[in-house]
Amino acid sequence: MKILSIETSCDDTSVAIVEDGKNVLSSVVSSQTKLHTVYGGVVPEVAAREHIKNIIPVLTEAIKTADTRIESVDVFAVTQGPGLIGSLIVGVNAARCLALLHKKPLVSVHHIEGHIYANWLTDNLARGHNPPTFPLVCLTVSGGHSNIIYMKSHLEYQVIGETHDDAAGEAYDKVAKMLNLGYPGGPVISKRAEQGDPNLYSLPLVDLTKKPTRNEAGFLVRPEESLDFSFSGLKTAVLNVVKQSTIDNRQLSDKDVANISASFQKTANEILTRNLIRAINKYKPRSVLLSGGVAANSNLRQLVIKSISELDDKVFFYYPKPIYCTDNAAMVGAAAYQHYLVNNFSNLNKLVPDSSLKLT
Ligand code: KG4
Ligand code: ZN
Repeated sequence: MKILSIETSCDDTSVAIVEDGKNVLSSVVSSQTKLHTVYGGVVPEVAAREHIKNIIPVLTEAIKTADTRIESVDVFAVTQGPGLIGSLIVGVNAARCLALLHKKPLVSVHHIEGHIYANWLTDNLARGHNPPTFPLVCLTVSGGHSNIIYMKSHLEYQVIGETHDDAAGEAYDKVAKMLNLGYPGGPVISKRAEQGDPNLYSLPLVDLTKKPTRNEAGFLVRPEESLDFSFSGLKTAVLNVVKQSTIDNRQLSDKDVANISASFQKTANEILTRNLIRAINKYKPRSVLLSGGVAANSNLRQLVIKSISELDDKVFFYYPKPIYCTDNAAMVGAAAYQHYLVNNFSNLNKLVPDSSLKLT
C-alpha cells in the first residue's frame, strides 16, 4: 500500500513515497535554507514562490527514486497546517490535483502528527526496536512548536504541555542570530557548543510551576509541577551575557561564542528534559518519543536517555534519524497511513490549508 505525501508547511519542499506507513521508498527534501539565511529567518513570500518552483521537480525525483510509477500510488497525502499559508497552499493544491487526476483518496495531516509519526518509519527502527507502543508521551520540539503530547492510542492526541512564548527551535534560532551564526540556529549552536564550557554561564532554568500557596488551615500546599515551557527569559539572559561580553565595542571571540552556545544549549535542553520527565512520572507511558527539528540535537537525546535510565519505571525510548526530525514528507506518509486505516479521508472539493490548524 503506497502513499505519496507532500510537505510544504514552511521552507522545505518535500515529497515522499512510503509503503505501509513505515518503509520509505523515497523522501526528497529541497531545502531553501541558503535563500533565507541572508534574511536571518524564513521570509513567507519567498518561501511560497520557491515551493511553486520546486514542487514538480521534487515530485518527479521522488517517483524516480522510489523506482515506481505514479499510477501505482494508492493514496495521496498532504500537510494541511499549521504553517505559512502561502507555503501550505502550494502543497495542498498539488495534492488535490494529483488525487483528482489519478482518482485516488486524499488524506490531510496535521504537521505535528507528522513529526510524531516519524518515529514509526522503519528507517529509524534499525536499532531492533518494535514500533512505539501506547500509551506514549512525545516531546515535539521544532521551530514552531514545543509540545508534550500524550497519546492513549493512534490518532488520539492530548497536549499536556506547551510553550507560553517561543518554541525551543525558535530560541535556538534567536540565540544564533545574537551570536551572528546565521539561520537555522540549532545545528550551528550544537556544533559550536562542542568547543565550549556548558557551565561557564549560569542561565535561568525557567520553570512555570506556581509558587506554593497556603490552604485554609495555613499549611503550605505544593502546586502541581508545570509541564509548560517559556523560553523568553532564557533568551533575554543570553542577550545580557552577549551585551556584557561586547562592552566597549569588544568583539565576541570564537571561545565566547562556544561558551555561550554550550551554556544556552545545556540550559534549554535541561528545561525540555525536566518537563518531559515530569510528564513521564505523571502519565506513566510505555513509550517516550522525541520529534521535531530540535530532536536532532544529540546533546538533548543523550540527556533524555540518561534521565530515563534513572527512572524507576522502565520505558521504551524512540527518536527519529536526524533527516526525519526536521521537516520531511515521509513523516506525513507515516501519519497518513493511520488515517487511511480508519478511512479518514479528506473531501477533495473542500480541503483547504489552515495556517493555525489545531491538533485534535
Ligand atoms: O521541524 P523543523 O524542521 O521545522 C519546524 O516545524 O519548525 O524544525 C526546525 C527547527 C529550527 O528552529 C532549527 O534551528 C532546529 O529545528 N534544529 C535544531 C537542530 N537541527 C534543527 N535545534 C537544535 N539542534 C539541532 N541539531
Ligand atoms: Zn516541523
